[in-house]
Amino acid sequence: MAQQQKLIIHGGAGSLEGNIEREEAIRQSLQSICEKTYAFLLRSSANEAVIYGIKLLEDDPLFNAGTGSKIQNDGQIRMSAAFMDGQKKSFSGVINIQHVQHPILVAEKLQEYEHTVLSGDMSIQFARESGFPEYDPLTQERFNEFQSKKTGTTGTVGVVALDLNGYISAGTSTGGVGGEIPGRVSDSPTVAGNYANEFAGVSSTGIGEHIVNSAVAAKIVTRVEDGMTLECAVDKSIKEGQENDDHFGVICITSTGDIVSSKTKDTVFYSFHDGSGIKTF
Ligand code: GLY
Repeated sequence: MAQQQKLIIHGGAGSLEGNIEREEAIRQSLQSICEKTYAFLLRSSANEAVIYGIKLLEDDPLFNAGTGSKIQNDGQIRMSAAFMDGQKKSFSGVINIQHVQHPILVAEKLQEYEHTVLSGDMSIQFARESGFPEYDPLTQERFNEFQSKKTGTTGTVGVVALDLNGYISAGTSTGGVGGEIPGRVSDSPTVAGNYANEFAGVSSTGIGEHIVNSAVAAKIVTRVEDGMTLECAVDKSIKEGQENDDHFGVICITSTGDIVSSKTKDTVFYSFHDGSGIKTF
């Protein structure tokens, strides 16, 4: 049994993309969402807390997930999200879903089914049949960015939680990079972007292609499972990423309560609560 609930959340690597005036607002929002989600975790499971936290992040247009998602180069918003129950070792996700408010809720719903990852039109159909109403996640800011052909390279949100029973859960949600080839699949709805088991949980952020090439989240968790400390496992993956000139960051928790965040370059906005208080970076 864990001695204390732990929580870490991120608002993406390089989310500023030159917009330095947004820095304070991003940190404030992360701090507030971390606070609310930790309070929720004190009376819930890691699974429930991860869904709760990702929903809040998807609702904040400052972040590139849910409302405020970026636009692909055909003018359409397509979002992806993954959820992993570490205790059950069960991964579910949606890839390039459209017209829903909370992609993470559709990913969560898929945990009830034998087939747990759906993409494109069929993920939308599944969402409608499951009762998720039509929703337009477009914001004026994203529309203006698209019109001015501003594309990014990153943008994701993630939550990893450890509950009182020692169970870990991880969730990740993204609106992609903006201006990408329609239908591009990022790392977020894969085990490179989001992975958890009974030993550790990881959510990645950064350039999806880099993250997938190194199977980042699954590899860190496997290293911990094989006996490495979380700090060593993360350091090794970050060093490997730097050698490849990769751009990514991670947030991680182990079942023994270790919390680590690191990055290959650039800023990862994150906030964590280790039971003694919140820290936001
Ligand atoms: N990590 C988000 C993306 O590459 O789309």
